[in-house]
Amino acid sequence: MNINDEQKDTLIQAAMAVRHWAYVPYSHYPVGAAVLSSSGKIYDGVNVESAAYPTTMCAERVAIFKAVSEGEREFVAIAVVTDNAGSSCGGCRQVMAEFGLDTIVLFADAEGNVRFETTVSDLLPGAFTPKDLPAV
Ligand code: THU
Repeated sequence: MNINDEQKDTLIQAAMAVRHWAYVPYSHYPVGAAVLSSSGKIYDGVNVESAAYPTTMCAERVAIFKAVSEGEREFVAIAVVTDNAGSSCGGCRQVMAEFGLDTIVLFADAEGNVRFETTVSDLLPGAFTPKDLPAV
């Protein structure tokens, strides 16, 4: 499913709006994310760090998990906003892939300029997905 420029901008604005809530005392790298579900709702998230570093959670996964925990299962697009329009980690790519390879992914800088637009399938070629598991 495609989205127009206005929808992209709305998603980026949503990610920008929450980014200041990122809890980043260790990395000082705030990330804001927003996901547009196929139901039309937007769910946002920020990265939440922990003194036990590996228990940190990325902004993309916070947004996706918020959406999934409210019944969503399909995503049209996800926007990720950082200072440098940085990419998503492998763990986030895998979680994105769980819910669809066609989801559009937008990486924007702190001013909301999209520096890179792609899809989950391009971010994670050959992804392991639910289809790889035997039917039960
Ligand atoms: N981070 C994200 O929120 N998303 C990613 O996909 C990459 C990394 C966060 C985790 C950590 O809080 C900080 O960025 C530096 O790694």
